[in-house]
Amino acid sequence: MSVPERHPTLPPGPSYPRVVQTLGWVRRPFQFMEDCHRRYGDMFTLRIAHEGRWVFLAHPEAVKQVFTGDPRVLHAGEANVILLPVVGHHSVLLLDEQRHMAHRKLMLPSFHGERMRRYGDLMREIARAEIASWPQQEPIAVWPRMQAITLEVIMRAVFGIRDAERLDRLRGLLRHALEWTSSPRSIVTMALLGPRRVATLRPLRRVLDPVDALLLDEVARRRRAPDVSERDDVLSLLVQARHEDGQPMSDAELRDELMTLLVAGHETTATALAWAIERLVRHPDKLERLSAEVEAGDDEYVDAVVKETLRLRPVLPIVVRRLTEPMEIGGRLLPAGVSVAPCIHLVHRRPDVYPEPRRFRPERFLEEPAGTYTWIPFGGGVRRCLGGSFAVFEMKTVLSELAVSRRLRPVTPAPERVARRAITLTPSRGAQVIVEPLDGSAPGSIAVPREVAA
Ligand code: HEM
Repeated sequence: MSVPERHPTLPPGPSYPRVVQTLGWVRRPFQFMEDCHRRYGDMFTLRIAHEGRWVFLAHPEAVKQVFTGDPRVLHAGEANVILLPVVGHHSVLLLDEQRHMAHRKLMLPSFHGERMRRYGDLMREIARAEIASWPQQEPIAVWPRMQAITLEVIMRAVFGIRDAERLDRLRGLLRHALEWTSSPRSIVTMALLGPRRVATLRPLRRVLDPVDALLLDEVARRRRAPDVSERDDVLSLLVQARHEDGQPMSDAELRDELMTLLVAGHETTATALAWAIERLVRHPDKLERLSAEVEAGDDEYVDAVVKETLRLRPVLPIVVRRLTEPMEIGGRLLPAGVSVAPCIHLVHRRPDVYPEPRRFRPERFLEEPAGTYTWIPFGGGVRRCLGGSFAVFEMKTVLSELAVSRRLRPVTPAPERVARRAITLTPSRGAQVIVEPLDGSAPGSIAVPREVAA
């Protein structure tokens, strides 16, 4: 790639110490990004502990340059190395260049939009059973309950496990492993030792080894299953996939990709669902419209609700690429070694793209379709989320099921704060609601100000 003969430079950014910048990023991510945007404009540099320098990009043109740029120059795998201990070396999330594309090609067909419809009945059944177990007329946090749904969906639609006893065992093992890996203690350990050393630590192996054993056993059974070609689950498709040289994926590759799909698809989708409910119960008119349209068999509005939730409350606020050589972005030549971060949150809050950007107004997506470089909750380009259609389909299914089976109201009118949990941004109180049976009266009956600040 030809590089203009100019000296690479970084855009401006806060001059205070790295540790203060890191705290701002970790503790108050939305406000911190917005303050920097106001002060320094569409491109600014932050210094984050253990991450080096991040150049935030808030203009759709710059985002487009990154998403359409040369994958040899824009490495995402390197930037994701923090996930190594759980997802393993073969994970599509950690690979770059040819190996990344090779794995992505094998995995893409399983997530093709058309395929998703086949998971509809299973997702509905899982959502229905979970919702039926919720206590009524008392405050409950929906976030952990959404996690239960999304975990079940991964185990059954992605791993394709059907046997109830194996499902019970895996559910227990996975919950334990996920709790361990997202506990504050292990995040500190990770920061101190780095992901490569953490991957071999005894306490981690103790929670992950039994998961690996069960997954590898499932892989072996699936390879032998006489009905494998008739099955729809992702593992069955991956077992039949072939690399370009005709070889099947190895056991280690399959194990790592299953864990990748779990880590990438479970908490993210649960969090997005929790935010959808957190927003909807504070906008009773939208919740009412949702119920009415779903009841009438129309799925446009639920689609708009999902898009608006992911716009206003993106689960991940940025995506990251590390530059392997200098690259010109937004008219500035940036140095090799820095990371560029298309900023999902700031792009989604641009008033020139989204009038009244802080308002929760799903209708905007009925008026204008989502833009490739302006609606980016799933990132973009050759690294775009593989499970984007899967997640949207699952969210639509669960929200539709809920909207026609229960009445929901908020516990308090005040919106929930955005709280960080490892790398995702979650509702601070776990999206608390009071659930009531449907009794014919209007949903969301408590007095909530129409315009609740975002
Ligand atoms: C609302 C839910 C979800 C959100 C917000 C989300 C978001 C993202 C984002 C921002 C990326 C990085 C994209 C980039 O770097 O440009 C990503 C990557 C990925 N996601 Fe998702 N995701 C969600 C659900 C899922 C699900 C359900 C699955 C699979 C079951 C999944 C699988 C993946 C994989 C495999 C990658 C790596 C793609 C690659 O590196 O080529 N995600 N996701």
